[in-house]
Amino acid sequence: MKLLVVCLGNICRSPMGEGALRARIERSPLAGRIEVDSAGTAGWHHGKPPDPRAVACARRHGVDISGLRARQLQPADFLHFDHILCADPDNLDDALALAPPEARARAALLLPWAGITAASVVPDPYYGDDTDFEHSWTLLEAAAEAAVQRLSARPDSGIIGP
Ligand code: 4NP
Repeated sequence: MKLLVVCLGNICRSPMGEGALRARIERSPLAGRIEVDSAGTAGWHHGKPPDPRAVACARRHGVDISGLRARQLQPADFLHFDHILCADPDNLDDALALAPPEARARAALLLPWAGITAASVVPDPYYGDDTDFEHSWTLLEAAAEAAVQRLSARPDSGIIGP
């Protein structure tokens, strides 16, 4: 299974989401079975590492995202990835504008897709402070936990029988 986390710039929320998902998957029976990547609907930061505040936030939680580099979402991502998981509704709209018609169903909001009901949006911390990055991290980590629980229970996870 292949998962792509999407936000606007690919320097704050989606690299933190990628890091949180990777870290949680590695500690689960899904380790080695799930490909995780991230992208931004905008290309402004192409090739850049995550925002230093996102790197510091992830590091406080034991996850190193300093090696990630930003890239822009492409229509071809809809053919490679099974799920295009967007941080907020604007990201979802922008992603859907790129989606080949047959692959539109692959795009979703990350939090509801993962099974989180308390919130549906990961707010953009770019114009905020460390508290805002921590809030985003909390939501992304909860999504990673819920996604691992949900995916582990799927018959096609390879972990449990049909
Ligand atoms: P992200 O945050 O979508 O979570 O990566 C942003 C990063 C950069 C900008 C906006 C949001 N920007 O305007 O450059």
